[in-house]
Amino acid sequence: MAAVGDARTRRAAVREGAATERDANAVTRADIIRHGETPALVDPARVDPARVDSKPADSALAASALADSARVDAALADAAPVDSALADPPLADPAFRADVLAGLSRRPRAIPARWFYDRRGSELFEDITRLPEYYLTRTERSILSAHAADIASLTGSGRAVVEFGSGSSAKTPLVLSAVAPSAYVPIDISGEFLRDSVAELERQFPKLPIHPIEGDFMHRLVLPAALANQPRLGFFPGSTIGNMNAPAAVDLLRAMWETLGEGSKLLIGIDRIKPVSVLIPAYDDAQGVTAEFNLNLLHRINRELGGTIPVSAFRHVARWNDTEARIEMHLEATRDVSFSVDGRPFAISKGKTIHTENSYKYGPRDARLLLRSAGWTPIGEWTDREGLFGLILAEARAVPAAP
Ligand code: TRP
Repeated sequence: MAAVGDARTRRAAVREGAATERDANAVTRADIIRHGETPALVDPARVDPARVDSKPADSALAASALADSARVDAALADAAPVDSALADPPLADPAFRADVLAGLSRRPRAIPARWFYDRRGSELFEDITRLPEYYLTRTERSILSAHAADIASLTGSGRAVVEFGSGSSAKTPLVLSAVAPSAYVPIDISGEFLRDSVAELERQFPKLPIHPIEGDFMHRLVLPAALANQPRLGFFPGSTIGNMNAPAAVDLLRAMWETLGEGSKLLIGIDRIKPVSVLIPAYDDAQGVTAEFNLNLLHRINRELGGTIPVSAFRHVARWNDTEARIEMHLEATRDVSFSVDGRPFAISKGKTIHTENSYKYGPRDARLLLRSAGWTPIGEWTDREGLFGLILAEARAVPAAP
């Protein structure tokens, strides 16, 4: 089986994935459950997309498009050898087109942040996590390794660990080696990342049953039948909860409560409010990697939606919005520009922006209130010496009677 080359589009890689899944010699021994392909993953109560701030702003349309694109890709993989995909223009995802056209038409302009993560975007994001200014990843990892034993004594051993948005699963081994899990269920929207990280974890934990799910964790999931009756520990690191506004964050945490069930625990990383002099550089680094990550969205629009956006006429902006307690990322026009996307004309005047991401920050009490609002009772909390980042363990309890 061919390795996935850097130059490949995500689309080509997904096609290859579709072929690979039917291959008896698949990379991993675990079968990846795909959204829309099996009743193991259903979607009875979707998080209300209107209340999602930017990153997930996922719609029924997007969800069905995901299932559709899996089918289209499978058909393409049947029709042509994988390598010919290199020459094809990438297929436009209808949900991407709809979100971009709507986002450029509304005021203020905003495009959901989930579209950052094509292959290039996912790679750039991995680079962000290694930047000196980006304290979040290394701080969370250091908290996890310093307090692994404490955390394990509160979670207990033998739980099935369910990771939401597992990505490259970089922090997972720290948790898995601490809590002696009965199984591991990584959930991620990028099947390609999922495959790679599962293969790696299988090497490190050869006896651990792994049940990957390719899908959007913003949708309520039904866990694989193999997990029935096993106590669960949810793992939601990286302050991803901060990429939603409060109503969407509560909806998601409630959906996780329902997915995992009463008595489950949740280990969640939540970035804290701190001086702007530390926050801004984390989202606007000296090397310009975050800028490139943000601007990649415009390149992606040009590539996949036949856009004519003059990318060099935009600059990356990171702002602290104190009222909302959030970092905002924008793409600002440095001159009056006009362009078309999918044949539709747009104009943006100098100084106006496209809002692409929010990262909400929480004080310790804010974070605990957020969790309690969704039925999760905090039972443990750890931080680093400077109090930059909070790692909270919470328990899914039935809502207590008054008072
Ligand atoms: N949730 C993390 C954060 O808000 C990671 C992240 C999501 C991020 N989107 C990003 C980091 C965009 C930098 C830029 O920091």
